[in-house]
Amino acid sequence: MATVRRTALWLLCSFLGHMSAVILRTTDSAVWANEFDSIELTCLIESISTNNPRIEWKKIKNGVPSYVYFQNKISGDLEHRARLREPANLLILNVSRSDTAQYRCEVAAIDDQKPFDEILISLAVRVRPVVPRCTVPISVTVGSSAELRCLENEGFPLSQYQWFHNNEEMPEDHKSSPKFLNSSYTMNTDTGTLKFRVVKKRDAGQYHCQAKNEAGYAQCNPQMMEVYDLDVMGIFLKVLGGVAAVVAMTAGMCHVCKKGYLSCEKQSGHSYKAPRQDDRMDYINADEGHFRHKSSFVI
Ligand SMILES: *[C@@H]1O[C@H](CO)[C@@H](O)[C@H](O)[C@H]1NC(C)=O
Ligand SMILES: *[C@@H]1O[C@H](CO)[C@@H](O)[C@H](O)[C@H]1NC(C)=O
Repeated sequence: MATVRRTALWLLCSFLGHMSAVILRTTDSAVWANEFDSIELTCLIESISTNNPRIEWKKIKNGVPSYVYFQNKISGDLEHRARLREPANLLILNVSRSDTAQYRCEVAAIDDQKPFDEILISLAVRVRPVVPRCTVPISVTVGSSAELRCLENEGFPLSQYQWFHNNEEMPEDHKSSPKFLNSSYTMNTDTGTLKFRVVKKRDAGQYHCQAKNEAGYAQCNPQMMEVYDLDVMGIFLKVLGGVAAVVAMTAGMCHVCKKGYLSCEKQSGHSYKAPRQDDRMDYINADEGHFRHKSSFVI
């Protein structure tokens, strides 16, 4: 009986031995983490017969592999930021944007019939946006166009942009809100530009913008955009100023003439009027010649 049982056990063992294989599994093969957080890449061993299998992790960035865990040590740029956790998980502390890559867990189990398995995990590190640069025109004339810009370059995934007018969120489609119904703006939430086709009085006010992604948001300080009517008063004042200047100059000239620095009367009497008449004569002669020439040509 004992031999039969032993034989059965041996058969079972050898059967299992034949089938023995290392098989890995992960709970998530596409992992997101926020910058400065910790993340654990899971490499679970579903089946194995070998004690002390060889475990390695590689980082693959732009197609180039490098060691992360090799000969029971963390190496490379993760050296002081990562550790291995049972069974073969890789725990990364304080992830940085440069950790965005693919990671491969490889387990070699020499006593198993199928002695090797690997799984690939992609890690993407989300980066919070920084304060965007906002460009708001200081003053605009009613009826003209205007463009406001907002941009930041750190956020990953790329930031989406949202504009605020007097701290009120502006809808992407101005027609969707009664408050902005009469405005003429178009907003591009991908590029951060806010364009007014025709600026109206009501568009005046404080503008600020917010850059946002899955990792967080940041916003610039509000900036004032003034909207003026066509500047009639300004034009009037300029004209008035011009007239005043002419008057002042004329007065100054007369003053100079009176004092006798220049012989103003003489100049206007002779050398000013006389050549004018000559000029007129020349014109008439020239015209006549032209006319005659033309006429003869027609005849
Ligand atoms: C995390 O890493 C950043 C650099 O990527 C460093 O400036 C910061 O001090 C680190 N934080 C901790 C808690 O180690
Ligand atoms: C929009 O314009 C219309 C007609 O010009 C006016 O009746 C309405 O009150 C305006 N709405 C707002 C919110 O200014």
